[in-house]
Parts: sequence; structure tokens; C-alpha cells
Amino acid sequence: MSKQRAKLVVGNWKMHGRLAENAVLLEAVAQGAGALPESVRVGVCVPFPYLAQAQALLQGSRVTWGAQDVSALTEGAYTGEVAAPMVADFGSSLAIVGHSERRAYHRESAELVAVKAQRVLEAGLTPIVCLGETAEERDAGKTEQVVGEQLDTVLAKLSSGEAARLVVAYEPVWAIGSGQSATAQQAQDVHAFLRARLVAKGAGEVPLLYGGSVKPDNAEELFRQPDIDGGLIGGASLHDQDFLAICGAAGAVSVTQ
Ligand code: PGA
Repeated sequence: MSKQRAKLVVGNWKMHGRLAENAVLLEAVAQGAGALPESVRVGVCVPFPYLAQAQALLQGSRVTWGAQDVSALTEGAYTGEVAAPMVADFGSSLAIVGHSERRAYHRESAELVAVKAQRVLEAGLTPIVCLGETAEERDAGKTEQVVGEQLDTVLAKLSSGEAARLVVAYEPVWAIGSGQSATAQQAQDVHAFLRARLVAKGAGEVPLLYGGSVKPDNAEELFRQPDIDGGLIGGASLHDQDFLAICGAAGAVSVTQ
């Protein structure tokens, strides 16, 4: 039997949190992560103002941290924008780009997401590039076309060496925050499709995360799939016990089978 890949579980807090409750959550996650097998890596992506708090409370732990977006611009008179090197200044190692909420509510195009991924790489961080189809697109049989185009637009801008530094998260839009996760088989099928594209680019080892209503009771089955290397966790990442249970599920399947 083959050894499964190492797993990566990343929390996406979205626009949640306040200093006091963050401190409790971050300390619990840092402590709980210390008991996980070496084969599981854990991260949290917090709102920009809390990067300093994440740095202060997670430094020296096994939990890495980062942002949920960056500007496509580098520096200058762009009120309200946050550049990737600013995120890096706080000891971050991660930045999500192309989350479907940004694509939908901020009209981010595939092209813009690709530029953001470049900015994140230039800052020495790992971009977590999110991809996913809507329910209508899935029903129309367009899932592979949609996620394939989203991924290809990013890959077209990168060398194979740069592409190898990505993390890709498949997050079907209909599964996010809905309580209706993709089935393990649905997710695996899309991951296998994305894996083939990454292999063709010379980046077959890129971790492929699944996101969309991952909970303690469905995480292990999802993480058992051969092309699912972990999860991007929204709602459940706000509760230390749920998030750590999901990390534990990753640990349970990331040892030799
Ligand atoms: P969810 O969100 O786990 O709350 O469905 C996942 C995400 O949007 O990253």
C-alpha cells in the first residue's frame, strides 16, 4: 500500500473575529496542533488587522498563518489596498487568492486572480488559489471547463517552478457555507482532473485542497481520496474543537495505509 501524501488543513476565517475571541481560538489551535502527527500541516488565514496577533500567538507553534486576499498592485496611491509584501511583513506564509466570494462580490476575473497569485509568489508566500463552479455550471456539465479555465489562467503566467509553489483549493460554490459538501467521489473526480493539468505543467506535487462545508464528520472520507491533500475550512475553522477534529481526521489518513 502506498503512503498517502502529507496533508494540509487551512482555516479561512473570512470576515469573522475580534481580538479577545481570536486569542482564545489561536491559543487552542496552536496547542492542539502540537499533538498532531508530523504529516499534517495546519494554517489559518485571518482578516488583515489580525495578522500581527496571529504572528504573536502562533510564532513557535506548528501553525502557519496568512491573509485571505492581496492586492494585484505592488505599491502606491491605491487607498484601501494591501500589498503582498505587507502581509509577508507579519511572518505570514500563506495568502488565499481567487476565493469565490471575491470573484462573485468583487468581480475578480480569472486574469486578476492570476496576477494576485504572481504578487503572492513574488513576496515569498504560498498562494492558495481557489477554483470552483456554481450549481448552474455543474448542472450544465461545465465543471471541468470552468475549473480548468480558472486554473489555466493562473498557470499561463507562471513557470513550472513557480507553479510548483502553489496550493490549489477546489471549492464548489454550491458547497461553500451551505452545509452541503461535495461527496468524496465528486471532489476526487475534480481533483484528479486538476492534478492532470498540474502534472502537464510539471507541478504534479502541488497540494490540492478541498473546501466547502468540510466538518468533523465528513473530513476523513474526503481526505482519504487519493488526490485530496487536505482542506480549506470556513465555518468550522472558527470553532477550535471542530477545526482540530478536522486536522485530526487529516492525521488519521496521512500515515501509511
Ligand atoms: P465553509 O467555507 O467551510 O464554511 O463551507 C469554505 C470556504 O469558503 O473556504
